[in-house]
Amino acid sequence: MYPLQLSDMRCNRKLPINSLGISLLLLMSLASTTSSCTQQEKASLLEFLSGLSQDGGLTASWRKDTDCCSWEGITCSTDGMVTDVSLASKSLQGYISPTLGNLTGLLQLNLSNNLLSSGLPQELVSSDSIITLDISCNRLDGELPEMSSSTPVHPLKVLNISSNLFTGQFPPSTWEAIEDLIALNASNNSFTGQLPTHFCTSFPSLAVLELSYNRFTGSVPSELGSCSMLRVLKVGHNNLSGTLPDGLFNATSLEIISFPRSGLQGTLEDTNIFKLTNLATLDLGENNFSGKIPESIGHLKRLEELHLNSNNMYGELPSALTNCINLIAINLNCNNFSGQLSKVNFSNLPNLVSLDLMRNNFNGTIPESIYSCINLIALRLSSNKFHGQLTKGLSNLKSLAFLSLYNNSLTNLTNALQILASSKNLATLLIGRNFKHETMPEDDISGSFDNIRFLGISDCPLFGKIPFWISKLPNLEILILSNNQLTGSIPAWIKALSYVFYLNISNNSLTGEIPTSVTDMSMLQSVKTDANLNPRVFVLPVYPALSHQYLQPFAFPKLLDLSNNKLTGEIPLEIGQLKSLHSLNLSFNNLTGHIPISICNLTNLQVLDLSNNNLTGAIPGALDNLHFLAAFNVSDNDLEGPVPSGDQFNTFETSCFDGNTKLCGPMLIHKCCSAEAPPASILSTEQTDYKVAFAIAFSAFFGVGVLYDQIVLSRYFG
Ligand SMILES: *[C@@H]1O[C@H](CO)[C@@H](O)[C@H](O)[C@H]1NC(C)=O
Ligand SMILES: *[C@@H]1O[C@H](CO)[C@@H](O)[C@H](O)[C@H]1NC(C)=O
Ligand SMILES: *[C@@H]1O[C@H](CO)[C@@H](O)[C@H](O)[C@H]1NC(C)=O
Ligand SMILES: *[C@@H]1O[C@H](CO)[C@@H](O)[C@H](O)[C@H]1NC(C)=O
Ligand SMILES: *[C@@H]1O[C@H](CO)[C@@H](O)[C@H](O)[C@H]1NC(C)=O
Ligand SMILES: *[C@@H]1O[C@H](CO)[C@@H](O)[C@H](O)[C@H]1NC(C)=O
Ligand SMILES: *[C@@H]1O[C@H](CO)[C@@H](O)[C@H](O)[C@H]1NC(C)=O
Ligand SMILES: *[C@@H]1O[C@H](CO)[C@@H](O)[C@H](O)[C@H]1NC(C)=O
Ligand SMILES: *[C@@H]1O[C@H](CO)[C@@H](O)[C@H](O)[C@H]1NC(C)=O
Ligand SMILES: *[C@@H]1O[C@H](CO)[C@@H](O)[C@H](O)[C@H]1NC(C)=O
Ligand SMILES: *[C@@H]1O[C@H](CO)[C@@H](O)[C@H](O)[C@H]1NC(C)=O
Ligand SMILES: *[C@@H]1O[C@H](CO)[C@@H](O)[C@H](O)[C@H]1NC(C)=O
Repeated sequence: MYPLQLSDMRCNRKLPINSLGISLLLLMSLASTTSSCTQQEKASLLEFLSGLSQDGGLTASWRKDTDCCSWEGITCSTDGMVTDVSLASKSLQGYISPTLGNLTGLLQLNLSNNLLSSGLPQELVSSDSIITLDISCNRLDGELPEMSSSTPVHPLKVLNISSNLFTGQFPPSTWEAIEDLIALNASNNSFTGQLPTHFCTSFPSLAVLELSYNRFTGSVPSELGSCSMLRVLKVGHNNLSGTLPDGLFNATSLEIISFPRSGLQGTLEDTNIFKLTNLATLDLGENNFSGKIPESIGHLKRLEELHLNSNNMYGELPSALTNCINLIAINLNCNNFSGQLSKVNFSNLPNLVSLDLMRNNFNGTIPESIYSCINLIALRLSSNKFHGQLTKGLSNLKSLAFLSLYNNSLTNLTNALQILASSKNLATLLIGRNFKHETMPEDDISGSFDNIRFLGISDCPLFGKIPFWISKLPNLEILILSNNQLTGSIPAWIKALSYVFYLNISNNSLTGEIPTSVTDMSMLQSVKTDANLNPRVFVLPVYPALSHQYLQPFAFPKLLDLSNNKLTGEIPLEIGQLKSLHSLNLSFNNLTGHIPISICNLTNLQVLDLSNNNLTGAIPGALDNLHFLAAFNVSDNDLEGPVPSGDQFNTFETSCFDGNTKLCGPMLIHKCCSAEAPPASILSTEQTDYKVAFAIAFSAFFGVGVLYDQIVLSRYFG
């Protein structure tokens, strides 16, 4: 209003001076009435301020001598009533003063994402003015307040109390008085008890009900079916039981049904599902649903996301799925679906961005129609029974960034690589456990895998050598060629892989010495990490609009695994350059010579396995500098002398030293005579305790790390 009048004045420059003066006066008086709050409102706000132990700098603008309508986060109506208190993400600490309930014109209160604690004042929920109340992401606790019966009108429409520490039943029965409620978000608290049956008799206008991440028990009430306005229903991550009641499918306005990991079972009935013609998201992942996907799913013309992953569903995919032409994401992983995929005509699904069918029993060939989904970014068909060769059509998928075909019965690796190498956006390619007994192609692959960061061709087993074309993958970060029958030596060009920080070529038949070029791998040398690493690689990339990001980024450790080969010679002294290594495994080779003392420089090591070689000499005492070392094994060598003592070395089992008859130590059968005794630790007990605690903490941390390959790879890619 103000700028408008100003411009009006500019346009009327020819006005006589006194009339301009009058307009100015008018304007000023108007301005003063538009923005002056009452002493009482100011007092209420100052009372709120005084309840804060951290005010995030509010005091700078919330001054007694100024008009509270000009304070940070405050908006007033033209008549000077405070209508809006917007203080999200201000690092506020302390409690929420009930005096905010005295602001009789307050329509919106947003205190989201602060560190406010103690309870939610009853005065706010039962305010007779507040329409939108968002106190999400704080540390508020206790049970929710009962509603005062004294105020007849409760205009509250939007209530977000999510991500707090509330407990008890939800909602308290007295809340039935909030008749106008449209959106109720109570996710991520510790509410218990059954889901109330009266939601939509109490709140007939309810459109959004979000109760996920709580401790609700019992069944899904069929009365939810009477919620004729309900569009969003999210109740995942609870401890429910039973199935989705038939009645629920009467709520035909539903656009989102989301019950992941909530303990449900049962089947999807043909006679139910087709009623929900507005449905855009159906997420029933990680439950115990069984049965088939009903044909009537084809009636869900607006369906964009279908998540039925990790259930016990089976049968063929219904051809009617072809009718859900708006599908963006399909996740059916970890079920028992079977049959040929070719029943579904994927060329009708042009919006498909992500298709995840991992761990089912699909067989036949990969249907050609998938290759017309040109927006596909992620395709995971791993652990099924697909056979045949990849076809050229795959190169139509120009956006494809993630492809896992691991663990099928595909053939012709040369052909597969020729087709995939020209995929400009392909960042993750996992095609191992296919191509049984084929030979690793050595000739240059035409096309260069421009963007590939993660290449896994393990468990085939493949014959041949580590091929030279790998040296030309400019962005490679993770290379896994383990469990094949590769022969020849570790190529000297390995150091050209300047971004590789995870190299697993274990369980092959590689011969020769460990080349010093391995010790020149720059990512393993540099302590400063990951500047180049784009976390997107590790994600099954998903369309940003998808509510469901079903693969989390995860960090691989820096790893060099050359175990179970036929490597000979000595461990190069230069190994000490790989300062950022977390895991070094040289076990089950034929290595000779001493353990180079430079290994003691690998201060980030968490795993060191040198077992089952022919190493001689002493275990360097300085290894006890490796404070993060949580797994250590030198068994079955020919080592001699005392075992390092102190710190985490006291925590390693004696089996880590077995098979070295000349080793001695307090925990071994062979005790050291005094001449061999290791130097006494100069650390005080306190320091030692600290270091032991540290080591234990890291072993706990590392418990995940040791199993990385198995768990992470199988979980995410297998
Ligand atoms: C403001 O609110 C508090 C607590 O709700 C109440 O005790 C007090 O009387 C109110 N003050 C005024 C002036 O209404
Ligand atoms: C509260 O503010 C946050 C941050 O600006 C915003 O994301 C949220 O939508 C607001 N809440 C409501 C109910 O508008
Ligand atoms: C809280 O939930 C409401 C209703 O669902 C929503 O409008 C609001 O944006 C949410 N607030 C935040 C911070 O996400
Ligand atoms: C509920 O609030 C949380 C913030 O804690 C927000 O992330 C979520 O999107 C909201 N849910 C709905 C359905 O608005
Ligand atoms: C739940 O709330 C906690 C604490 O506010 C937060 O750290 C966490 O990310 C939230 N979880 C979800 C799933 O929203
Ligand atoms: C879930 O509820 C069942 C009983 O219905 C109970 O036995 C189980 O311990 C609960 N689980 C969790 C994680 O609360
Ligand atoms: C759902 O609709 C059917 C038929 O329209 C009706 O018989 C049934 O009572 C309804 N159930 C609920 C929970 O509204
Ligand atoms: C594919 O799977 C279906 C269903 O399990 C089975 O009946 C059929 O024989 C299988 N076909 C082949 C070629 O394995
Ligand atoms: C494998 O693929 C290559 C290249 O496409 C082709 O030349 C060769 O004939 C194929 N081999 C078999 C056995 O099909
Ligand atoms: C290790 O080398 C010796 C001698 O060269 C050979 O006899 C032995 O078979 C090799 N062992 C392995 C496991 O390669
Ligand atoms: C360990 O690293 C330091 C500093 O980089 C270097 O001076 C020293 O020679 C190395 N020690 C061994 C045994 O390689
Ligand atoms: C290494 O040890 C194996 C048995 O452990 C032995 O057969 C072989 O001769 C040894 N090789 C060398 C080179 O010492």
